[in-house]
Amino acid sequence: MIVIGCDHAACKLKETIKSYLEEKEIPFIDCGTDEGVPCDYPNMAETVCGKITNGEAEKGILLCGTGIGMSMAANKIKGIRAACASDCFSVKYTRLHNDANVLCMGERVVGHGLALELVELFLNTEFEGGRHQRRVDLITALESK
Ligand code: RB5
Repeated sequence: MIVIGCDHAACKLKETIKSYLEEKEIPFIDCGTDEGVPCDYPNMAETVCGKITNGEAEKGILLCGTGIGMSMAANKIKGIRAACASDCFSVKYTRLHNDANVLCMGERVVGHGLALELVELFLNTEFEGGRHQRRVDLITALESK
């Protein structure tokens, strides 16, 4: 299960990604927001990430104007490894090496075609584990320092 959410700056991109997920028959939860309903991105990050930390979803997609505010907020939540990215290399390696569980993108940064490529990579690239697991565990350890 995928969970997706955006603020008012990224509703159109959310709709594009939802269409892609529907076409691929990938189940998802849409946490909003919708056109004409402004929301503060930290609140949306909390809602979306909550669905991951409570086990309802495995991965999340957070969208705002830049993707940056969403990633800052999401990374405050225990158990969340959010990557703000706008290129294929970063998305591939944040899955391979960081086991990122949230992808953040900016509607004002990426075109819709590129965003769909990034989503595809994010969903289909497996974490490598091995030496990278230790480093991910060290990130987790920072949560309780
Ligand atoms: C909203 O205008 C904008 O600040 C927000 O979408 C995001 O870009 C913040 O990081």
